[in-house]
Amino acid sequence: MKELILKKFEEVFGDSKDTKAYFAPGRVNLIGEHTDYNGGHVFPCALTIGTYGVARKRNDNKLRFYSMNFEKLGVIESSLEDLVPSKEADWTNYPKGVMWAFGERGMKVPCGMDLLLNGNIPNGSGLSSSASVEVLTGFILRDFFGFDVTNQDLALIGQYSENHFNKVNCGIMDQFAISMGKKNNAIFLDTADLSYEYAPIVLEGAKIVIACSNKKRGLGDSKYNERRSECETALAELQQVVKINSLGDLDENTFEKFASIIKSDVRRRRAKHAVYENQRTIRAVRALKANDVAEFGRLMNASHVSLRDDYEVTGIELDTLVEEAWKLEGVIGSRMTGAGFGGCTVSIVKDEAIDTFIEKVGAAYKSKIGYAADFYVVEVGDGPCIL
Ligand code: GLA
Repeated sequence: MKELILKKFEEVFGDSKDTKAYFAPGRVNLIGEHTDYNGGHVFPCALTIGTYGVARKRNDNKLRFYSMNFEKLGVIESSLEDLVPSKEADWTNYPKGVMWAFGERGMKVPCGMDLLLNGNIPNGSGLSSSASVEVLTGFILRDFFGFDVTNQDLALIGQYSENHFNKVNCGIMDQFAISMGKKNNAIFLDTADLSYEYAPIVLEGAKIVIACSNKKRGLGDSKYNERRSECETALAELQQVVKINSLGDLDENTFEKFASIIKSDVRRRRAKHAVYENQRTIRAVRALKANDVAEFGRLMNASHVSLRDDYEVTGIELDTLVEEAWKLEGVIGSRMTGAGFGGCTVSIVKDEAIDTFIEKVGAAYKSKIGYAADFYVVEVGDGPCIL
């Protein structure tokens, strides 16, 4: 890959003198969905697929960007004086947002750069290609200019840029999973205080399989923000009767005791998901540590049911992929992953069942939905690095 991107850099920007090459992963969340903006736990891991980049400092303030994933867009030019979001900037709003966010923290980017990217995360799949670009950009800026930031800061800066520059109200999970990734480990993160712990992913005789629905997200972002505000309203209602900072502070029993204060049935179900999913995540990690992969799988399945019925973020595409997976022998657990409304499912499948899984789930999906899903057997990888 390094040779390929250096060669392309040469082709696009003339030569590849004084360049450096980098990588930042994508991520998949194993369990703990829509809990990260509710003060709950998440359990994601970094993948060995992600975003590759080649960068070089410039002597002026110009920014020149090129993505091998959007070749038709050609070189997109900008400058450090123009760190404002725009439609024409397209995908470059992500790296520009991160440069802007560094500036907001008193770390002004001192000179322009040429940046070429090539990602092997399927586009728009919900495996966090945008967070991967954000963390990669932050990692390059730190390496180039010696900014005094930790990998955890890179996650926070990435999230800040996404929230305030790109105006997507996401939580911290994606950027954190990417910047703090560790080979063969998932990250058990408490989003209430950012304390975390690595947990080895030991799936003897099984692998993580991702099924990409190929459904375009469409309304996803607005529905995402809608879920967030439903949870915020439910929290405010609960706070009238119980002293909590977030829905993540509640266990199931306490929630049930006070749930009737939430005035709408819809909001009650949203809050119920946030509370129960957080507790499921805590239990799932405990099960994994005790080598009880079967219990981990059952909790993944329960997570999907809750996301489908109470949180209502699945849709026919993700439900089909998951429900077909559940029918098969050798599937330990299967659920939607990421924001939902399209994107991917994550399943733990026994080695000997993987081919049948891909064939059967793939065929059922195509016949019901009308177009094909893509399948990836993935590995858990490290955080960002210099190549
Ligand atoms: C998206 C967001 C995350 C998280 C998930 C849902 O991936 O970027 O912060 O909220 O959705 O768990």
